[in-house]
Amino acid sequence: MRRFVVEVLRLHLSWLAPAVRLVILGTALPAAAQAPFGPDPEVGYALAARVCSGCHLVEPRHAGPVVDGVPSLMRIAETRDDAEIETLLLAPSHPAMPEAPLDRAEREHLLAYIRSLEGN
Ligand code: HEC
Repeated sequence: MRRFVVEVLRLHLSWLAPAVRLVILGTALPAAAQAPFGPDPEVGYALAARVCSGCHLVEPRHAGPVVDGVPSLMRIAETRDDAEIETLLLAPSHPAMPEAPLDRAEREHLLAYIRSLEGN
């Protein structure tokens, strides 16, 4: 019975049009890898939520406990320009480095997100 199910599945999968397979593959790829369209604030938001939110407030509608003296990304958007933020990310004065060092593309996504926060 199991063999039969596997066989049926295999047949169905082999039917899948290459385009459908590409879509399936595409959703499995990490967001940063599929960024041929330049800095994407949404990718930046996902990065901020993953890497920065342990210490910084990363979005306006978030409230809650924050580490004393850590500016929110909204505040950073107002007070720092891109070059300053990039310098701070590359040579953090942070007490602890974010666990995942960001590559160039990721930093650009993150900057695009932080810029989108201006005025919030
Ligand atoms: C482990 C906690 C922690 C994490 C994670 C963290 N930060 Fe920070 N960050 C701090 C603290 C604390 C400060 C303020 C004190 C300092 O500058 O050393 C700070 C300061 C900053 C500053 C400078 C603010 C200013 O105007 O002086 C920037 C920019 C910044 N963080 C960006 C980020 C970004 C972007 C991320 C995610 C990639 C991140 N941080 C992740 C703790 C953290």
